[in-house]
Amino acid sequence: MRSFAGRDILSLKDFERAEFEHVFEVADQLEPIARARRNVDLLADKTLVTAFYQPSTRTRLAHEAAMHRLGGHVLGFSDAKMTRAGDYYQESIKDTVKMLEFYGDVMVMRHFQQGAPQEAARWASIPVINAGDGWGEHPTQVLTDLYTIKKELGRIDGLTFLCIGDMRMRTMHSMAHALTQFDAEMIAIAPPEMSLTDEFKAEVAEKNLTIREVDHVKDAIADADVIYVEPVVQADYTVSRQERGDDVGQTPANYQVSREVLQLAKPGSIILHSLPRMDEVPPDVDATRHARYWQEAYYGVVMRMSLLALVLGAKE
Ligand code: CP
Repeated sequence: MRSFAGRDILSLKDFERAEFEHVFEVADQLEPIARARRNVDLLADKTLVTAFYQPSTRTRLAHEAAMHRLGGHVLGFSDAKMTRAGDYYQESIKDTVKMLEFYGDVMVMRHFQQGAPQEAARWASIPVINAGDGWGEHPTQVLTDLYTIKKELGRIDGLTFLCIGDMRMRTMHSMAHALTQFDAEMIAIAPPEMSLTDEFKAEVAEKNLTIREVDHVKDAIADADVIYVEPVVQADYTVSRQERGDDVGQTPANYQVSREVLQLAKPGSIILHSLPRMDEVPPDVDATRHARYWQEAYYGVVMRMSLLALVLGAKE
């Protein structure tokens, strides 16, 4: 297995099974710190730089919380418009990164352009973590999701994943890449214009992940162990920021996980949603035994603790 020390976390495409398991093991070691709401000094001499060119609640703050839990320092920007990258100068990723690398020891970047964190990693002398790039990937979110599944269901192998929503989403891409490393089935439900491309399906099929596609959540929910949901009513992830208009539309029943449709689900199946949500998982689902998105949010901090400790070399 490749060492994580000094490594960029850009994609799950090249993640091997042993690497998933190692990240989960380190998360298990660090989890008691988060559970006890303690801060330790494991990363006391390290600084995290956040570079967020798109809005975020969970990803940025979970990385920051993780850094605080491990005793590290945090600086950065959450609104590129207040930097030279987002004003008149439109400073390039290279020029920005060539500054940020001197301000800290690891960088977490979210960007509306697919491939921007990869571009940053080309120039940075410190590890770069992809916090979501356009329609590209969201590796730390999916590591969080798989870790949540392992904690809640005890395994990933042998499970059927029902992925509902916009398949162009970066989480869906990272999830499919990740599942190539496990003995898992993936079923996808998306509006035709939001489906996985033939090229993407061929890419994961080469690694033995065949994705079954159905039209309605009712057609497959009875088979699912993990119900993995993203919106179909949502912002354009290729722009820096999108205001909400008056008519946002409603999620068609095909892509909605309601209490009614959950009557068809396995009793032990769990719902994950990286959030934010619209109406695809109505709030009354929160009180069902299937909902696990709040646990997912908690494990989001634990997973970022694991990744930061690994790439900064504090954990082997
Ligand atoms: N899950 C996720 O990426 O949420 P944020 O956009 O709030 O970071």
